[in-house]
Amino acid sequence: MKQLLVLLIFSTHSFLALSQKLTVTDLTCDYKINPIGIGTLNSGFSWKIASKERNVIQKAYQLRVATDQADLKRGKNLIWDSGKVNTDQSTHISFPVSDTKSGQRYFWQVKVWDNKGNASAWSKVNFWETGLNKSDWSAKWIEANQVTDGKVVPVPMFFKAFKISSPIKSARLYITAHGLYEAKLNGAKVSNHLLTPGWTSYENRLQYQVYDVTEMLKQGSNSTVVSVGDGWYRGNLQWTNKRNFFGKEPGLLYQLEITHNDGTKQVIVSDNSWRSSFDSPIRSSDIYNGETFDSRLDKTILSDESIKNWQPVRVVNYSMDNIVAQEGPPVIKHEEFKPVKFITTPKGEKVIDFGQNLVGWVQLKVKGKSGDTIKIYHAEVLDSSGNFYTENLRSAKQENIYVLNGMSQVLEPHFTFQGFRFIKIVGQAEKMDTENFTAVAIYSDMQPTGDFTSSHSLLNQLQHNIQWGQKGNFVDIPTDCPQRDERLGWTGDAQVFFNTAAYNMNVASFFTKWLQDVKADQYADGRIPAVIPVTQKRANDGSAGWADVGTIIPWNFYEAYGDKSLLSRQYESMKKWVDYISSVSKNNLWNNGSHYGDWLFYTMADDRDGKAALTDKHLIAQAFYAASTQNVINAANILGRTEDVSKYTALLSDVKDAFNKEYVTPSGRLVSSSQTAYVLALYFDLLPESSRKQAAVRLVENIKSYKDHITTGFLGTPYICHVLTRYGYTDVAYKLLMQETYPSWLYPVKKGATTIWERWDGIKPDGSFQATSMNSFNHYAYGAIGDWMYRTIGGIAQSKPGYKQISIAPQPGGGLTSAAADLETLYGKLSSSWKLDGNRMSLEVEVPPNTTAKVVLPKSASAEVTESGTTLSKVKDITVNSGPDKDIELTLGSGTYEFEYTISSR
Ligand code: BGC
Repeated sequence: MKQLLVLLIFSTHSFLALSQKLTVTDLTCDYKINPIGIGTLNSGFSWKIASKERNVIQKAYQLRVATDQADLKRGKNLIWDSGKVNTDQSTHISFPVSDTKSGQRYFWQVKVWDNKGNASAWSKVNFWETGLNKSDWSAKWIEANQVTDGKVVPVPMFFKAFKISSPIKSARLYITAHGLYEAKLNGAKVSNHLLTPGWTSYENRLQYQVYDVTEMLKQGSNSTVVSVGDGWYRGNLQWTNKRNFFGKEPGLLYQLEITHNDGTKQVIVSDNSWRSSFDSPIRSSDIYNGETFDSRLDKTILSDESIKNWQPVRVVNYSMDNIVAQEGPPVIKHEEFKPVKFITTPKGEKVIDFGQNLVGWVQLKVKGKSGDTIKIYHAEVLDSSGNFYTENLRSAKQENIYVLNGMSQVLEPHFTFQGFRFIKIVGQAEKMDTENFTAVAIYSDMQPTGDFTSSHSLLNQLQHNIQWGQKGNFVDIPTDCPQRDERLGWTGDAQVFFNTAAYNMNVASFFTKWLQDVKADQYADGRIPAVIPVTQKRANDGSAGWADVGTIIPWNFYEAYGDKSLLSRQYESMKKWVDYISSVSKNNLWNNGSHYGDWLFYTMADDRDGKAALTDKHLIAQAFYAASTQNVINAANILGRTEDVSKYTALLSDVKDAFNKEYVTPSGRLVSSSQTAYVLALYFDLLPESSRKQAAVRLVENIKSYKDHITTGFLGTPYICHVLTRYGYTDVAYKLLMQETYPSWLYPVKKGATTIWERWDGIKPDGSFQATSMNSFNHYAYGAIGDWMYRTIGGIAQSKPGYKQISIAPQPGGGLTSAAADLETLYGKLSSSWKLDGNRMSLEVEVPPNTTAKVVLPKSASAEVTESGTTLSKVKDITVNSGPDKDIELTLGSGTYEFEYTISSR
């Protein structure tokens, strides 16, 4: 016994010692922690390793999977045991078993070995659970008996009461709708997910959600009510005042699977036994226009008695081919804001300022007389006289109306959202106070991964604005704007912002989902619609810089996350787009078609000097033809498609030749003398090596001729500072970034912006507004500068996809005395933080385990670089590579480091 005790103490002790040295954390499947409702595992298993030592690399892993947690821990009845696999791969391990059982929970854990001779303990157990296979759906689509024919009606509700006769072990609800649904079981909402089932290319892909509702059911009588609002499916969409883009009738598909303790199953499905009613408190509901809620009609509906006047439902036979498991993150509530100011405007309007332009709604806490009405209107800005300004919303009403029921109430809308910083209140609410109002931000639930800060407060506000532009426009799909009658998945906007977005937040599953819609909506000829999910055919479907989303995001996604499976899922679509361009090109020149061009580039009101920064649209098209071809080559290389590599490499050379013949003079001048023309030609390496330096000089001269102002539109903006840095003009890039007068990034900040504006001058220097037809104050495209701020100021970038190899090369400038950037990579935290005191530079970096980093210090750094106070040459495990004319390159492994050095001049 004593012996056993000693052994036990010893083994617990040694177990702890081992696990302290090396542990496995953050287990994810398809980027998610313990997901339920997985269709197929595409991106696979990833984990992080933690160790206090430096230079830690995984040498091997072992992963095991079982359907029973106890079995897993004992290593018994395993579905899959990888065995010890000697590899440093700790991300995107694929699951080789193609078991297709519905609703199956798989438990998994992993252990790792490192290069220091340590072995971790088995990780904690995580799981994923499969969704419902097509063949296991027994639910039928149901619609209200009374046909709406696409008209505006109160939100229909669907009801079913049912009995559960034996003890419940577990229960899952599989559900989707034509419209947006809110489901309740026994009077309580089944989840905090909003705007479900989300927006996809509905005809091709309609997502269903899965909820664990075990705790919401009871033995005996139960009931369920589901409301289905218009949403994107049949509500107003785009500025055409048209409805019913995807269908006319609201409908429900519902399957509740209850597993009893004895293993038997009971399944409650939508069918003709349900009842429905339009007698809903939600009298109308529309994404753009808002909601009218009469709380006097808000009754508890729990049993057949409460639905006496309800109608039977119609069972409708829709194909189930489009039903897919949810891939993206759910939209949920996030930050809350309290009023910062109550204002009575010159016009006498009662207005509340929440201090932040955000997307979501205002939650009201009220007690009033039954029948009293409160109206809330939403606006992004006040006009120059201080009045409530909604003209830039175009036809979107953004109006929420509540009728009170005489009791204490908390009111908020269900199937709509608003873009606003200010609200105007009409009715009873005029007398109310701070505690009555809370603005709630809603957006897709993406993990924040990165931040950028510096010694410059306007720059910090710019970063804040970029992040809020992302939050407000990542509401299930990436939109251009969240407030006016648009809010569409504009492809150009999404592709220019992708890199910045992937620093700020983990956008992997958000974009995985949307890219499936890009693919689904791609036309048979290869064109990609300008808006995804597509709402209508447009002449500009296939516009350069917009349709190129089909190659740009998949490739940039691969660089950010190192996920081959995503690349292979998109590969055919990538090729199809480039093949389309080839099919309409003549002599390798894409000089036809309708294009948006360098959207919203700088123009002057009185342009007698020819200073408008116009770039030939076909020059732009040719540049993106090359860019997309390059992306296909990159993908083909990764996927081992050698024939495609040769084919598209030959094409790329022809495309570049055609560019040079058509758009470049013999002395290397571009036919469009604009910043965007030079930026695209240089960023995509279109010019012969010999003329690149000269072209960069021309770009710099152009910038000087605008007194250090940026003149690019959507397509030139993401690349301009990168190009300047690549050709040695980081100082000029800083001048653009630090510019405070129009046009510049900081001009809106100086004007009080809390998000990124659609235009460089949404509010003009004289205080008046830009054209009401297009003047959003929450459009993320120009926020694409964030990518340069992280990469060049903070200095963090991937040099091998997914940050397996990292580059840390901060370039101070612009008068900054400090800056810091960090990013939670799939391997762990990467950060770079520098401070400049005169010429004395200190740089702290953190490199995550299982990665290596190259840290680049300027060649002007004196030989006396120290790390944590020790001369570099004496620090083991850091390889120093330098030469008289070269920057100093340090190769190092995981851990934290503090460098200090002197730089001669900046
Ligand atoms: C949108 C843009 C979009 C553009 C196409 C606008 O209405 O708001 O951001 O990319 O149309 O040119």
